[in-house]
Amino acid sequence: MKLDRAIRRVIPSAARLTYNPLFKMLLNSFDLLPNRMFQEFSRIPPNHMRIRVGVGNRLFANQIFYLNEARDFWTHAFHAGLFRLDSTIVDIGCGCGRFAHPLRDYQFKYETFSGKYIGIDIDEEMLNWCRANFDRTRFEFHRSEHGSKAYNTKGRAGAYYELPLEDTSVDLVFSSSLFTHLLEKEMMNYCRESYRVLKPGCSMAMFCFSMDHPPPTFGDRHTFRFKMGNARVESLAVPEAAVAYEEEFLFQTARESGFQTAEMLVGPQDWQPVLLCKK
Ligand SMILES: C[S@@+](CC[C@H](N)C(=O)[O-])C[C@H]1O[C@@H](n2cnc3c(N)ncnc32)[C@H](O)[C@@H]1O
Repeated sequence: MKLDRAIRRVIPSAARLTYNPLFKMLLNSFDLLPNRMFQEFSRIPPNHMRIRVGVGNRLFANQIFYLNEARDFWTHAFHAGLFRLDSTIVDIGCGCGRFAHPLRDYQFKYETFSGKYIGIDIDEEMLNWCRANFDRTRFEFHRSEHGSKAYNTKGRAGAYYELPLEDTSVDLVFSSSLFTHLLEKEMMNYCRESYRVLKPGCSMAMFCFSMDHPPPTFGDRHTFRFKMGNARVESLAVPEAAVAYEEEFLFQTARESGFQTAEMLVGPQDWQPVLLCKK
């Protein structure tokens, strides 16, 4: 963990390094032994993709963290009544399907996830991994036209992307570690689109970096010292590497998108509070 932290301190976006073929090979070589020892690990994406999506900033031995975080989220979301097993769910910034994984594999007696999961991302490599590893009956994956210096640079910065879904057709829109990489236009785009596709009374839940409840790394690895419009960023060279907002601005954006309520769910020492808005 100390080595992890030392490397992360000098690299503004570890995600960007995972597009380098040599770095990819090196990272993936750490999977060879664990995949042989534990069959479950061979069903999750290769290490370079897990690192691209964050996994608690661990460059090595991150499999358990990868598997647990999404399961915890779904347990909470189910308990809070945000979705049912037959719901239509949109995951924006789905990456390599970390949050789709528990839905695909969940089984208790005869109960499985029987709804529809729609994953949206800008990274074609991760979308292709998902398309090859999730059944098409319940899971679909689409590429957003947005661009990002921290991830895929092919899309257009500031482009408006319309979710490929009918109005009022979705039970839950959520994102994990997406708003933490979105500049203002893209963030507002997804708030508006989430509102459009949600059924009345349903919720949007977005993990984010809040200036009012900064992560435990604030003052050390994270300072958010540069302003770009209403966004506070860590690096001007790669602004999407880490983005934070004042909560009042997020609430205002949610209200202007049409949401009836907007609140921030915050836990002690939270890395990422959740912006929870109800249509
Ligand atoms: C930190 S990763 C989190 C991935 C996934 N939600 C998870 O928790 O495992 C951020 C993801 O957002 C995607 N992303 C970044 N900008 C995006 C945008 N404008 N639209 C959609 N996805 C975006 C990246 O490609 C990446 O997969």
